[in-house]
Amino acid sequence: MCWLIDEQATLDLAAELASLLPDSAFCIHLKGDLGAGKTTFVRGLLTALGHTGKVKSPTYTLVEHYHINARDIYHFDLYRLADPEELLYLGIEDYFSSHALSFIEWPEQGKGVLPEPDLLISLNYQKSGRQVTFTPFSAAASIICDKLHN
Ligand SMILES: Nc1ncnc2c1ncn2[C@@H]1O[C@H](COP(=O)(O)OP(=O)(O)O)[C@@H](O)[C@H]1O
Ligand SMILES: [Mg+2]
Repeated sequence: MCWLIDEQATLDLAAELASLLPDSAFCIHLKGDLGAGKTTFVRGLLTALGHTGKVKSPTYTLVEHYHINARDIYHFDLYRLADPEELLYLGIEDYFSSHALSFIEWPEQGKGVLPEPDLLISLNYQKSGRQVTFTPFSAAASIICDKLHN
């Protein structure tokens, strides 16, 4: 568990995580209420990975594709997904191909169709700032979490 006092702390932690991500495929789920900081965290990841433009929230498009330093990165926001089956029409298998990174907001909405993530990030409101919890689901993610906590 980690305390994020302001938006900059969220961006800084995301940048630290970005520096630890493997070259192989890696999937991150981000959970938390509206406004908890999921998109802010993803913006921090993308910027640290080398993205220079804006980061659009893919609330209506469901997914934004980035190609950064020869790597495919997919940012999903499944808030408006009506049915997990819709993901099949998006061709989600392609998104989890070798070397791709995927960051998924509202993964609960894709339950049953989305694969397990490597890493789950949970963000929670506090009186001021946010609280963040990392839960690893893969060996690669466990190693990253150990490093993050040091
Ligand atoms: N650690 C933090 N403390 C306070 N405010 C934060 C923190 N991290 C992000 N924020 C702010 O909270 C809001 C979160 O919005 P957003 O990232 O779009 O949330 P979500 O994608 O979870 O709906 C933004 O206004 C952002 O500036
Ligand atoms: Mg969002």
